Amino acid sequence: MSKYTFTSDGPLTGRLRVPGDKSISHRSLMFAGLAVGESRITGLLEGEDVLATAAAMRQLGADIERMSEGEWRVNGAGLGSLLEPRGALDMGNSGTSTRLMMGLLASHPITATFTGDASLSGRPMNRVIDPLSQMGASFEASSGGTLPCMLRGAAPAVPITYRLPVASAQVKSAVLLAGLNTPGITRVIEPIATRDHTERMLTGFGATLEVGEDNGERVIAIHGEADLSPCDVIVPGDPSSAAFFIVAALLVPGSDLVIENVGLNPTRAGIITVLQQMGGSIEELDRREVGGEPVADLRVRHSMLTGIDVDPAIVPSMVDEFPVLFVAAAVAKGTTRTTGLEELRVKESDRIAVMAAALTEAGAQVTEHEDGLEIEGTGGEPLRGTGNAPVATHLDHRIAMSMAIAGLVSANGVQIDDTAPIATSFPTFMELLESAAA
Ligand code: S3P
Repeated sequence: MSKYTFTSDGPLTGRLRVPGDKSISHRSLMFAGLAVGESRITGLLEGEDVLATAAAMRQLGADIERMSEGEWRVNGAGLGSLLEPRGALDMGNSGTSTRLMMGLLASHPITATFTGDASLSGRPMNRVIDPLSQMGASFEASSGGTLPCMLRGAAPAVPITYRLPVASAQVKSAVLLAGLNTPGITRVIEPIATRDHTERMLTGFGATLEVGEDNGERVIAIHGEADLSPCDVIVPGDPSSAAFFIVAALLVPGSDLVIENVGLNPTRAGIITVLQQMGGSIEELDRREVGGEPVADLRVRHSMLTGIDVDPAIVPSMVDEFPVLFVAAAVAKGTTRTTGLEELRVKESDRIAVMAAALTEAGAQVTEHEDGLEIEGTGGEPLRGTGNAPVATHLDHRIAMSMAIAGLVSANGVQIDDTAPIATSFPTFMELLESAAA
């Protein structure tokens, strides 16, 4: 455990580049690992979560090599030809690795055991176990449907039509990935659209996939027993990582920062819309396309933010950004109300309860509700801070980084109990923060 105190350090200026998108990085390794032949990945996020995916794909027979920083080469094992892993698949802190790999393995004749850290071992897996069992896989999970969990894949698996009971890109992707090696057509019905990186990238790897609409719901159909062909992937910068610097630059007086190469897929960019609605100055420069995803450089200037009622319809497109939005709300003028955030309670930590506690310790005025927080902002005044009393981050990288940003706008600084989890998604966070404030 390494404690660290974040304090106000002057305006954030200059230009910086955040690492590659975590969701896209995971998928690029998995899909390349299923294609026969060599794929190259540029801009891969080298955070612990993605490295867990790489290690697991190697255990399943893919040949994966790091050429240089962010440059990786993958020779896939081939769909249907994954090997049975010798040891357990250790997924570390990563829910995305676990749930997507369970989907992959569900339609292979393989038995595998998934393990993870204390945070991951408390997270619900029944949301993928249910549909994958309908497809023929069987599971022996720990009590409450958690890890460690043993999976026995089915070959052949049975195609299903599955309507998502919760808005989750991980569950959607697990079913689609299982469908890849299943005869016939597997369909997922999405009442509320979630991030669509799986759909976009699978098409690039040569899968046949149709996206349609029925009664206002998204329907994704994947044709099974596909042959994936290798594909070179360029990974755009992660908007979820950029969000910490966007909020920091908006909150710290005098800031004027350009964040380069930020992925702006509409299913991910909700945080920018909400911060703009609050009065944040965020300007898109040089909008372009990188690796089939929209990207821009963002110029962010210090702004006086005003509290709003956040429309719950926008939640799926910013599901990981609420912790840092709560920090913005804590120093905005007036009240910010968020609702419809039940899913936040089953992320790396219970992000509603953990952020309510941490922000309260830092001097913010927060009321916790079952499905969100109501936050009374300081109107631009700094938060009190926690001084040398650490806030508990519960092995949650996004809590640690959000409270780090709170420290930048506090009188006494904010101490984090453990900075280590930051490396799961954003290993260069501390150095980028230092360079932007220098
Ligand atoms: C992810 C989907 C989201 C998100 C997670 C990454 C993905 O989870 O919170 O960080 O890459 O598909 P859910 O699908 O559970 O909402």
